[in-house]
Amino acid sequence: MKIHENVRLATFFAQLAVKQRVAPRLGVRPLVSELFLTENCNLRCVSCSCWLDNTKGELTTDEWKDVLRQLVRLRILKANFTGGEPLIRPDALEIMAYAHEQGIRHLHLNTNGIRLTPAMLTKVLDAGVRSFNISVDGPNGLVHDRIRGRLGAFQTTMEHLRGVIDQRERYGLKVRMNFTVMRENIEYLPDIARLAQELRVRLYLNLATDQTFLFRAPKVAELKQVDADDITAALGRLEEVMRSDGRWLPRYSDMSYIPRHFSDIVQRDIPCAESQLKLMIHSRGEIGGCWGHDPTFNVRERRISEVIESEEYREEHARLFRKECVGCGSNYSLNLRWRPTTYVNDLMWRAGRRHLGKDA
Ligand SMILES: C[S@@+](CC[C@H](N)C(=O)[O-])C[C@H]1O[C@@H](n2cnc3c(N)ncnc32)[C@H](O)[C@@H]1O
Ligand code: SF4
Ligand code: SF4
Repeated sequence: MKIHENVRLATFFAQLAVKQRVAPRLGVRPLVSELFLTENCNLRCVSCSCWLDNTKGELTTDEWKDVLRQLVRLRILKANFTGGEPLIRPDALEIMAYAHEQGIRHLHLNTNGIRLTPAMLTKVLDAGVRSFNISVDGPNGLVHDRIRGRLGAFQTTMEHLRGVIDQRERYGLKVRMNFTVMRENIEYLPDIARLAQELRVRLYLNLATDQTFLFRAPKVAELKQVDADDITAALGRLEEVMRSDGRWLPRYSDMSYIPRHFSDIVQRDIPCAESQLKLMIHSRGEIGGCWGHDPTFNVRERRISEVIESEEYREEHARLFRKECVGCGSNYSLNLRWRPTTYVNDLMWRAGRRHLGKDA
């Protein structure tokens, strides 16, 4: 990151501190845009509802290009391309390359990895993407394929994940393996930690929710009910892995967030930085909202700048920051990162005075 980008990030966190303590209605400019290129998908994950319907009327290539030009004028630092599965859009590469040409410096891709063949990876890198989250929901085909709804998905995704890891040094890539914790795979937490270490790739733990707009389905509501004893047991075993070698794994404070997520999804005492950091553009052009709250504006009707400067948007974002929301746990890691207690807890864990599974 360049110096001026670090300054903007530091300013963002300073503004959040002011917003929390002094000026609750302070407007904080988003720095990152979350672009749902499509809400359709080539997999059928049990935890997700994207594939249940065929979403029609998504933004065209030209409409996405217009969105990107607007984001550049708003000085957005980073574009996250996500979905659904972004790589199923035939124009995904064109849109990503356009973002790069227009001057959005940091491009990130969330993908299930199925289409990320070596040839596709070369094109994605040529388009300027330098950061990847690749989803792996189990340490083997048995678990991952069952969750992802396709036989052989694990093998393909792992092959393509290895391909990305192989290019990491050459291109200075940031690569994360995303594991979504749910009832179906909680017991495999220690195994996925070991797999991440074997691959030498950073592990991120998503926490299953049925509140986010992509995941609202009765089946998901069941999967996010994880038994407290199962969480304690899995974290206890994870603790052993972390104590012997913590490389590539999330920090203690991130891991210790997990049990409460499954009993108190809002965690109102932790303000939501995520809702302030990101500007969301959904596949059919809806703007704003946050993961758990539906947007009320559309790029087909209003300019993005007009929306984020509007009184309604600012009021809504003041409420979301205070977690007057349904809760979702999205990017809990960011929400913890700017709190001093996070660092104290991590130090206490290192000193052996905190333990996962017992006092997490
Ligand atoms: C919706 S997907 C979009 C990108 C891509 N299709 C993928 O699977 O990585 C983004 C992330 O959400 C995760 N996810 C799926 N179901 C979820 C749920 N119910 N709660 C939280 N995260 C979930 C996925 O595992 C993935 O890491
Ligand atoms: S989690 Fe990703 S891969 Fe799975 S159905 Fe949803 S969008 Fe598709
Ligand atoms: S925790 Fe609340 S405010 Fe934050 S993204 Fe989720 S639903 Fe939105």
